[in-house]
Amino acid sequence: MIGNGMTRRTFIEAGGGVATASLAMAASPAAALLQSGGATVKGQPLPDGVKLPTVAPKRKRPDSVGFAIVGLGGYALNQMMPRFDQAERAHIAAIVSGNPNKLTRVGDAYGVPADARYSYEDFAKIASDDRIDAVYIVLPTGLHAEWVTRAFAARKHVLCEKPMALSSAECARMIAAGQRAKRKLMIAYRSHFEPYNLEAMKLMQQKAAGDIRLVRTEQSYRMGPTSPSQNWRTSRALAGGGPLEDYGIYGLQSALYLTGEMPESISATTFRPTGDPRFAEIFAHVASQWRFPSGAVAQLVTSYDSAGTNFAHVRGTTGALIMDPATSYSGQKMRLEGRDDREFTPGDPSVQFARQLDHFADAVRDNAAIRTPGEMGLRDLRLIEAIYAAAADGRTVKLAPDGTMRG
Ligand SMILES: NC(=O)c1ccc[n+]([C@@H]2O[C@H](COP(=O)([O-])OP(=O)(O)OC[C@H]3O[C@@H](n4cnc5c(N)ncnc54)[C@H](OP(=O)(O)O)[C@@H]3O)[C@@H](O)[C@H]2O)c1
Repeated sequence: MIGNGMTRRTFIEAGGGVATASLAMAASPAAALLQSGGATVKGQPLPDGVKLPTVAPKRKRPDSVGFAIVGLGGYALNQMMPRFDQAERAHIAAIVSGNPNKLTRVGDAYGVPADARYSYEDFAKIASDDRIDAVYIVLPTGLHAEWVTRAFAARKHVLCEKPMALSSAECARMIAAGQRAKRKLMIAYRSHFEPYNLEAMKLMQQKAAGDIRLVRTEQSYRMGPTSPSQNWRTSRALAGGGPLEDYGIYGLQSALYLTGEMPESISATTFRPTGDPRFAEIFAHVASQWRFPSGAVAQLVTSYDSAGTNFAHVRGTTGALIMDPATSYSGQKMRLEGRDDREFTPGDPSVQFARQLDHFADAVRDNAAIRTPGEMGLRDLRLIEAIYAAAADGRTVKLAPDGTMRG
């Protein structure tokens, strides 16, 4: 039960593709409200180095979509909130945070009225706040399912950060909640709005490297000393298996949108060192090999314990597309090698944030089709589960065209 449910059956969706069902009977109504399968909302300090705006936000057109930003963390404050000014049809109408001091500082800086600053406990009150059309969930991943469902219960549209959730079961519940509420659900896969990746999709469709044979993607960085109690990205309840859900998902997405195919089989391996608090609950590396129906193969690697990289390479029968960095906030580089050697500079990658917001606003206002719907997030979680299942069992997992595991 959602909302004021007192004795709600919650499932702890453990990362690593192993779904551990557990009955978490809440001790009190307040605890029931704030629990989500072992993950609980908890306000955090203002991240170091955040620059808050010093000028009032621009006035927007009358049909601009008002967003409530849920979770004032690094990505919301450093990347997304400053980009609302560049969006045509989206504005910040409200903020939701577990840190009252941040509500004041961020609210003042962004000109959010005092009565549009909500705590998690007050979240349900957004239902009667007509300034809010949509909710943007920028919480740790293990909290997405619960808070997306709450946003739908308040009859708001939802933009949810990637990855959509920690399991395909959670994704299915989120989609169903949106359908019941008759509200839109979009996953914030920003690369679908970024000029280099859009150009790469077009080039691959036009067979600029010939027929695709090999794909390699790698997303990694070396995480500093930390532990699950200090950093949600190392907590299984909040981050699942770790680097694959958080960063490797960009490689997973690239392999899909560059080939235009779904894999028919996956084999994989994971590594978790012992005695390292960073990897007490999550994997350090995840590598997988995919085979597509066309015969193309892909190799995807992601790590939280190796020097930073973020590339996608596609090798076809006549050449290769090299994207390095492939899916950053800015600074993308892309070239085609082979018959037609060429460097591409299709546009400023930083437009991806505002374009994503406007795309969602068009869906809300004009019923325009969503490029990155909940179903895409669900598809990706199915593949993540297949990767973990293949690694856990040491076997090649066969997949149906929708990404579900066969047999
Ligand atoms: N699309 C992208 O490029 C991109 C990049 C980075 C992150 N993301 C996604 O954005 C989401 C947030 O990531 P982030 O990097 O912004 O994380 P973060 O800096 O750690 O911020 C998360 C915020 O969530 C709130 N929160 C509520 N309960 C929490 C808990 N138990 N533990 C930690 N934080 C809690 C806090 O906000 P309050 O203090 O305001 O309550 C916290 O500041 C994730 O889903 C991540 O995958 C996407």
